[in-house]
Amino acid sequence: MGLNVAVTSALIALLRDDLFAAPFTTSAIDTLWSADAAAALRRGHREAAVRSVARVGEVGTLATLFVLGLPVTTESLEAALPRLGVDGAAELGLVRRDGDRAVPLLDLRPHAFVDALGPGSWWIASDLGEAALGTAIPATHVLGVGGASVTLSGLMIGDRVRRVLDLGTGCGIQALHAARHANRVVATDISQRALDLAAFNAALNGVDSIEFRLGSLFDPVVGEQFDQIVSNPPFVITPRSEGVPEYEYRDGGLVGDAIVSSVITGAAARLAPGGVAQLLGNWEYRDDVDAFERVGSWLDGTGLDAWIVEREVQPAALYAETWIRDGGTLPRTPEFDRLYTAWLDDFAARGVDRIGFGYVTLRRPVDGAPTLRRLERLDGGLGHNATGLGGHIASTLAAHDWQQARGDEELALATVSVAGDVTEERHYWPGDEHPTVMDLRQGGGFGRTFPLGTALAAVVGACDGELAIGSICSAVAQLLEVDEAELLAEVLPGIRELLVSGFLDPVE
Ligand SMILES: C[S@@+](CC[C@H](N)C(=O)[O-])C[C@H]1O[C@@H](n2cnc3c(N)ncnc32)[C@H](O)[C@@H]1O
Repeated sequence: MGLNVAVTSALIALLRDDLFAAPFTTSAIDTLWSADAAAALRRGHREAAVRSVARVGEVGTLATLFVLGLPVTTESLEAALPRLGVDGAAELGLVRRDGDRAVPLLDLRPHAFVDALGPGSWWIASDLGEAALGTAIPATHVLGVGGASVTLSGLMIGDRVRRVLDLGTGCGIQALHAARHANRVVATDISQRALDLAAFNAALNGVDSIEFRLGSLFDPVVGEQFDQIVSNPPFVITPRSEGVPEYEYRDGGLVGDAIVSSVITGAAARLAPGGVAQLLGNWEYRDDVDAFERVGSWLDGTGLDAWIVEREVQPAALYAETWIRDGGTLPRTPEFDRLYTAWLDDFAARGVDRIGFGYVTLRRPVDGAPTLRRLERLDGGLGHNATGLGGHIASTLAAHDWQQARGDEELALATVSVAGDVTEERHYWPGDEHPTVMDLRQGGGFGRTFPLGTALAAVVGACDGELAIGSICSAVAQLLEVDEAELLAEVLPGIRELLVSGFLDPVE
């Protein structure tokens, strides 16, 4: 990385042509080894894939070298990269020669996706993982596309915007996604090596609308405003004690969860009116106090709308085990035990017994004070979202604004319809005529379940996008022989909740 730009871009063009021709695609790689071997590979074990990989052919050679991280013969690499050649690959820093073998220096693999703008595929270069290195990864490791990367890119709202900031770009995956719907993207990182890899990936995939800037947090964008900020920040809580590795890719260098509060408060200063920030984060539960109290205090004074979804809570000990192992330190070794002690001491110092993980959506109101402060726990399976959750997040934010702008009288005159992914589930005691439980179920979005009372069930059942909510309530009141005004007052809060959760869509 960091080569002469003119020479590098010419070599990158040759590499792209070779990868296209191979073709080095996810579906071609899928034919090389079994689904079981692919799953083992995702867990960091390559032995099963190594056994079954068909080493013949260009795709076999490229996958052996760049996905499994094993040397190949220079002869086979010349055949797999006929335009770039082994010398070109060495000049790009992808391999080094070792006699008649080419040894991988980087991981390079196709990444296929479907987002709001349709299907796509990129080649992404990143640092070699633990299996390929045969040792724990170094602190300067630049991560490839992992589970959290895919989670955030799925959350990303894909509406057309002018300027996006990707804070902590790593290999550049979020910036590449943002470049599909933004005029310009600024991608920042504290690691020059990450920026070099991200720039390489942008060039390899023909994307020229991303600007790369070195620096910590919001330092590289002082005084600027963005329509969208995305960040998969280095949120892993790490003891700040002697001898504990500080992995750049996951550790922001601050105490506890301060990196997440810094990104939240920093985003407040950099969001343009109407702009949205989307990030992932961890937060600590201290001294049995609900973590949402602390997260709420980070939001106070920012002037932002906020929607936080906690997806998971881990006991502190399990969290420590997970992240020590993630760094390549094996359990039941003295090193693991030393780090485990440091982690548990660090948590004990702040009274931390659990750590929450979730999605943060922030928005600067176009004008006026914030109207949205929603902190909720949704730890079940998500609904089916073919293009990710971004579309759902955008439409529920719009539904929030729509219902917020209407007082109860106005809402009663408005029309809504049941979203296309919603079904109703009724449970009966055997032989009973009336259901004991009625639930709405959301097929997409967060896959929510919403319990219904008799009146709300009847009203929702008639929300066909034609009749006003008030007219439906009036008919239902007659049917149930109850007071119309009372029924309206009972039902409207439920209608609002169903709108902001995506069960109902505004019509007019
Ligand atoms: C979890 S990785 C995310 C990479 C990529 N955006 C993704 O979604 O896969 C976090 C990135 O933040 C960078 N980083 C660490 N500390 C930072 C800081 N103080 N300011 C900006 N970036 C930082 C790391 O180098 C790393 O590339």
